[in-house]
Amino acid sequence: MSKTIPNQDQNQLDNISPSRYISAVKPGAGRRLSSKIETAYISEGGLLFRADCLDLLTTMREGSVDLVFVDPPFNLGKDYETDFSDDLETEAYRIWCRSWLIELARVLKPGGALFLYHWPKWLIEFGAWLNTFPAMEYKSWIALKMKGGFPIRGRIHPAHYGLLYYVKRGGKPTFNVVRAKSPTCRHCGKLVRDYGGYRKKFQRFEDEDGIPWVQISDFWEDTRPARQDKSRGLQINELPLHIPERAILMASNPGDIVLDCFVGGGSTLHAAHLHERLWIGGELGEPKAALQRIATFIGEQETVRPPKRLINCFADGLLQTELNLGPNGHKRPVSSVGKLQNVTGSMEQFASKSKVIGF
Ligand SMILES: C[S@@+](CC[C@H](N)C(=O)[O-])C[C@H]1O[C@@H](n2cnc3c(N)ncnc32)[C@H](O)[C@@H]1O
Repeated sequence: MSKTIPNQDQNQLDNISPSRYISAVKPGAGRRLSSKIETAYISEGGLLFRADCLDLLTTMREGSVDLVFVDPPFNLGKDYETDFSDDLETEAYRIWCRSWLIELARVLKPGGALFLYHWPKWLIEFGAWLNTFPAMEYKSWIALKMKGGFPIRGRIHPAHYGLLYYVKRGGKPTFNVVRAKSPTCRHCGKLVRDYGGYRKKFQRFEDEDGIPWVQISDFWEDTRPARQDKSRGLQINELPLHIPERAILMASNPGDIVLDCFVGGGSTLHAAHLHERLWIGGELGEPKAALQRIATFIGEQETVRPPKRLINCFADGLLQTELNLGPNGHKRPVSSVGKLQNVTGSMEQFASKSKVIGF
């Protein structure tokens, strides 16, 4: 980030709090990945690490990824069954989030996109703060309807989460029009909305059932809250696939590199894989949920070697050395987790719900 601050002399920079804009990271300076980083899965399309987000990000090259999608812990005291506290003092949480946001901005390519999922109290702060980054440009605040929200005594009923969308200046951002199926009545199957005179315009986007696929807006009603999927017996807040999927379809192209350093159940990795993007994921806790999910869309076997483009995201061939990639690859934890079985509804839940089909 230091190179992206124009027209400021060193004195001015020195007077800015170091946590404000400037990453002090020199990836690869220590030549080794942190001993705390473990490789959890290697495939032809992606790499999953068990790692603290900052440990992982600091090994990554500036300008190496095309899109970042993150859904961090919300600091609501949730027990994720890992050794981090989701109940930090407000200022400690603010500083922690700012630290990884700086690194995320650093590792994005110019023109790359950042999506940050959170609730409004924190998004309003992070948005205001990101607006002060010379390198980052605000694009959108997407509101996602919180279906399970309840009225709270003495407060307005909280009914949405938010997804902040920024791009990194200095390159041409990707923007694709994403379409989703127009909502229909559960009982009679008819369209919920009357598009009036515009209905004809959507005709060329109708599917085989005559339902038009309409351009998504910045208000996503067909999302449910992050939830704990008890059927998987894991303490994760897994997003529905179509949340990261829409971000990925909208702001990246096939072959691009997607990063999520708070992988949880792996919805971002799955969305990236479905749409032929390469992916890098990190998870502090044991990434069992993500591995189980990977097993459903890739399989339990790893590939020998990740693509060179992913290796190049890490400083000076660091990853190549670190993985000690031999001809037979390594036996990794994924081998010990089975495919999702007897989990009612999960495969349906993982079905793709959005597409890019022209303007
Ligand atoms: C809200 S969940 C992400 C859920 C994910 N988006 C999904 O759809 O499954 C946040 C995840 O971040 C992980 N996490 C917490 N602190 C972390 C850290 N310092 N570095 C990396 N991951 C962390 C938690 O273990 C948790 O799995």
